[in-house]
This record gives sequence, structure tokens and C-alpha cells, in this order.
Amino acid sequence: MRIAVIGSGYVGLVAAACFAELGHEVISIDNDVSKIDMLRRGEVPIHEEFLPELLARHRGHRLKFSSDLQEAVRQSTAIFIAVGTPSTEHGDADLSYVEQVSREVASAIDGYKIVVEKSTVPVFTSDWIRRVMLLDGADADNFDVASNPEFLREGTAVGDFLYPDRVVVGADTERCATLLRQIYEPLTSGEYYKQQSIIPNTTKANIPPKIIVTSTKSAELIKHASNAFLATKISFINAVANICEAVGADIKEVCDGIGADSRIGRRFLNPGIGYGGSCFPKDLKAFSSVARETGYDFRLLQEVMNINAEQRSRFLRKVRSALWTLKGKKLAVLGLAFKGGTDDIRESPAIEIIKSLRKEGCEIRAFDPAACERAREVLRDEGICYRQSAYEAAHNADALLILTDWPEFAQLDLPRLKSVMTYPIVIDGRNLYDPRIMAGQGFIYSSVGRADVHTPISRPNGKGEKTATASPGKSQ
Ligand SMILES: NC(=O)c1ccc[n+]([C@@H]2O[C@H](COP(=O)([O-])OP(=O)(O)OC[C@H]3O[C@@H](n4cnc5c(N)ncnc54)[C@H](O)[C@@H]3O)[C@@H](O)[C@H]2O)c1
Repeated sequence: MRIAVIGSGYVGLVAAACFAELGHEVISIDNDVSKIDMLRRGEVPIHEEFLPELLARHRGHRLKFSSDLQEAVRQSTAIFIAVGTPSTEHGDADLSYVEQVSREVASAIDGYKIVVEKSTVPVFTSDWIRRVMLLDGADADNFDVASNPEFLREGTAVGDFLYPDRVVVGADTERCATLLRQIYEPLTSGEYYKQQSIIPNTTKANIPPKIIVTSTKSAELIKHASNAFLATKISFINAVANICEAVGADIKEVCDGIGADSRIGRRFLNPGIGYGGSCFPKDLKAFSSVARETGYDFRLLQEVMNINAEQRSRFLRKVRSALWTLKGKKLAVLGLAFKGGTDDIRESPAIEIIKSLRKEGCEIRAFDPAACERAREVLRDEGICYRQSAYEAAHNADALLILTDWPEFAQLDLPRLKSVMTYPIVIDGRNLYDPRIMAGQGFIYSSVGRADVHTPISRPNGKGEKTATASPGKSQ
């Protein structure tokens, strides 16, 4: 199949590379000419596992890059729209990029093609796309609009795309559904998994995903409702974690107990500083807004958002509680990305927390394995020092804050860490460590939904036993 993917960001670029991997002829389009030039030169604009390998494998063969949208449309049978759909100031999805692309596609349609929403969009968007395309002169017989929502997660995007739980196809004509079935056939038939040198699957068995064919409206709702449900799971467990802190229970034990119920499942039951990223915050607002427009007040979603915002304030209270005063304190911050495995800092809780700490006069030394460059752009005026490793960030720090769940942050050499810090105080917003182990290593350790551990500490510079000058209190 000849495919054009419009938008070469986190979703579009991964989708384009994976479609090429499945054997299709793909043109990856972006109106950001510098991004297209980078991709043509062989550079990879985002941090994503296996993406460099896929791009190297298919670039110049089955995968081409271009800024010429209309030419790409003329050459393709399926046109996937994967541009951004950020929030407007009122919380709705800003669909202006989708509209702009739809109009450009309309002017280039010269035979039957399918136009597929890959971007996350509110219900009824496919109707709007159809309408603007007709107004812009596309012949009604020459196209169908479909919805094929994307469920990949940044950090594991390539694996998620090639080993999905399900493929959702919203199509209102059989002709359109058939083309989409063909595109995903290498996955749904299991053919891809039998090939040599495929991208390995690190998390799941190679079970062919089921394809779920629905109306376009249902597919649009499946995506919004899925993200809303996952965010609800996160806020739910954060609320339970807060009760655990109040009564002295351990949230990990509680999560294991709840998650063992197959109706609930263990995934997404991880308390912390709340969800962030380019999807959940905006998609919840957009879904809430769609509900309101239909006459339904989806109050549950508002509460999910409130709990999420509250988690960050609670974390800041933990920092104050561990350090007493904040002005002039030297804080090591591990993690800037909204989650581990990505360089994406959009709506990252870490960035928000750093801004608050800077307002209170803290000095910040930050380290992130992939996101420092992007963080520099948004924290330009904040006077942050960026370091090359966790230990460099921790050097002479009054406390260390863990804000992103990078796997390497869970494997720090604790004696080494303690030896470089001024005070061995760790405030872990991602629950990466066992409090007992931290206590055993002589740390004052505070996490989410578990009791803080406070041990008398010895000064790392060998000045003898000393209780921490900080005043660790109850973190609330
Ligand atoms: N990032 C994720 O994890 C994820 C997961 C599932 C779904 N989604 C959805 O996918 C969509 C894209 O998200 P993203 O994270 O890839 O965004 P992104 O900002 O990384 O990429 C969007 C790209 O579209 C390009 N673009 C904008 N207008 C264009 C135009 N007129 N012509 C050509 N290119 C244009 C931009 O230059 C950019 O490169 C959003 O709707 C998002 O909600 C994202």
C-alpha cells in the first residue's frame, strides 16, 4: 500500500517507520522543513527506542521524507493525519492543524483515497473533515474519512505500534475498512512476527492483535475514553496513596493486592507526582469539553484532573517538610521528561515542580538521560544547571528529588550517591526505591503512599555522626 503520513512527530514518525517495516511504501510529511532535512540527513529528531534502527533500515527505500503534502497525497492511497491537537485556552482540542491539512489534502485528491485520523480527535471530527474536504472541492466519491486512533506510549512507541493489544478501525464504508484491514494485515495475520530480524518484543508474547472495526464515531470515542480511563486509574491510586500516608499503610502492598484481581490489573496502579505528557492532560480536558457539548457534565473527569494537580502540591509539601526552609537549598533533580524513556517534556510534572522550587529560591542541578536539551528551551530563564549524570547532579546537594521514572534512576549506586551529597535526603516522586533499603543505607527517604524513613545520618565528609539538620516531618 502507498501511504502518506502527515505530521512527523512522536506519532507520525513512528507510524511512518512502522508502516515501512510492515512492507508499505511510505512518505512521511511535515511542514517543518528543518525536521524533514534532519530526517533526510539520517538524523533522528526524537528519543525513542528502536526508531533509529527502523529509520536506518527503511530510509531512502520504502520510507521517504518530504514537505510536499500535495504530491504525497497524489502518490498515496491512504493518507494518515498525525498532526498535533493541543488544547485551546478553553480546554477544547485545537483542530486547526487537522483542518488545514484536510483542506490541503482535498485539493490534491485525484482518485479514491482514504483519509485517516491518527491524531487524537473529539467525536464528530471525521464529519468535519469530510465537510471541509467537500467544501474545498474534493469529489464525494473519491474519498472516505476513517478513524484509526493510536495507542502507543512514548518510550516504548515502536514496540507498542508493532505489538499492539488491538487495532481500532473506525470506518463507515466497507471499501474503506477493507483498505485499513490490508494495511494492518501483516500484524493481524501474524505474518510479521514470523519474519527474520524483526524489531524484538520485550514485553508481550507475539500474539497477533485483534482488529476492532467500528463506526468512525465509536473509534473516536474509544481513544478519548481509553485515555480518560487510564488517567482515572492513576488518580484513583494517587488518592489511595494519600490515605496510605495518613494511616501508615504501604501503597505498594495495596497496589499488589488490588492489581492481582484480573478485573483490575496491576498496570497503571503506580502512585507518584501525577500524569503529564502531551496526551492525558489535553485529552481529558477535550473529552470533558465534548461531554459538556453533548449536554453531559462528566464530573468524574474534573475530579481526576483535580487529584492530579494536587499530587504536585503534595510533593512540594514533602520537599518543604524534608528541608524546612527552601531558600538557597541546593537540590539535585533526577528527571525532566514527563516519563522515562522519552525526551518529551510537554506537560511534564518535573518541569512544573522545578519552576515552583525556583520561585522559592532553590538552586537546581538537573540530570535527565534524554530531555536536558528540550528542558533548556522551556526553562531558559530559570537558571538551572544541567549535569551529565545523577552523581554530578547530586554533588554537594542538600537533597535529591526523583521526578521521572527512568529505569537507570532505580539502579543508582547508593553508597556513592550518599558520599557525594551534603545531606542524604531523597524525596522520591516515583517510588523507585524500597524505604527499608534506603533506611539501611542511611538515607532520609520520602516517597508517595509509604511511610517516610528517617535515620540518624553520618556526614559523608567524615566529620562524624550527626543527625540531619533538616527537620523531616510528616509529609503533608
Ligand atoms: N505522543 C503520543 O504519545 C501520542 C500517542 C497517541 C496519540 N497521540 C496523538 O497524535 C497526535 C500527534 O501527536 P504527536 O505527539 O506526534 O505531536 P508532535 O507535536 O510531536 O507532532 C506533530 C507534527 O505535525 C507537524 N505538523 C503540524 N501541522 C502540519 C501541517 N499542516 N502539515 C504537515 N505537518 C504538520 C508538526 O510540525 C509536528 O512535527 C496528537 O493528536 C496526539 O494527541 C499522541
